[in-house]
Amino acid sequence: MTDHDARIRHSWQANADAWTRAVREQRIESRRLVTDAAILAAVAEGPAQRALDIGCGEGWLCRALAARGSECVGVDASAPLIESAQAAGGGRYEVMDYAALIAHGESLGQFDLLVCNFALLDDYIAPLLGALRERVAPGGRLLIQTVHPWTACGDEPYADGWRLETFAAFGGEFSTPMPWFFRTLESWLALLAASGWRLRQLREPRHPDTGKPCSLLLDLQPLAG
Ligand SMILES: C[S@@+](CC[C@H](N)C(=O)[O-])C[C@H]1O[C@@H](n2cnc3c(N)ncnc32)[C@H](O)[C@@H]1O
Repeated sequence: MTDHDARIRHSWQANADAWTRAVREQRIESRRLVTDAAILAAVAEGPAQRALDIGCGEGWLCRALAARGSECVGVDASAPLIESAQAAGGGRYEVMDYAALIAHGESLGQFDLLVCNFALLDDYIAPLLGALRERVAPGGRLLIQTVHPWTACGDEPYADGWRLETFAAFGGEFSTPMPWFFRTLESWLALLAASGWRLRQLREPRHPDTGKPCSLLLDLQPLAG
């Protein structure tokens, strides 16, 4: 485990209660106004009978998918977040980090929908993306929603690199900042192609007032071969 990976995981242990409240009380404006609806709209455009929510957090997306008739499995490295998810229902949840998903993912079976909603935070995610090809059933797809590079870039140079999320915008309850890896659009597209995924559609859901993109939403299919 790298130092960054350890700090990312630690933050999701320490901030689990604050995160659960922020999500369930709809405190994050971009989620409330734009990105929750965007991922659900993208899900609705294809098969979602069996869904795997990777880095599911407190489980809101599994609950939303279950309400739409999906059978959902949620996995996450954070035990307290998985406990919150289990308490609220909506699917089967397992404490499983990405390394375990790569090594033992076959125990979960295959899915016609894989979703990573703001859950790819590390720099070295190519092995995970490669392994996810084995989890997708024929005709299935992978949806990745992540921060929009141009909006998230702020005043920093537009280049891949580590950033720090303090969660200051989400209220004062978050104790532990989280490192996360910023990727340019060029870098995302190159990484996905090199990991064996074909881009079917790219969306940029926008804020209704500012018109700025709130996220980057990638709809992917395994490359043949
Ligand atoms: C921003 S939260 C998003 C949670 C959820 N997908 C949502 O939309 O509310 C990021 C999630 O990724 C999970 N995560 C980060 N690194 C992980 C890893 N290496 N293995 C498994 N989960 C991880 C965290 O525990 C956290 O729940």
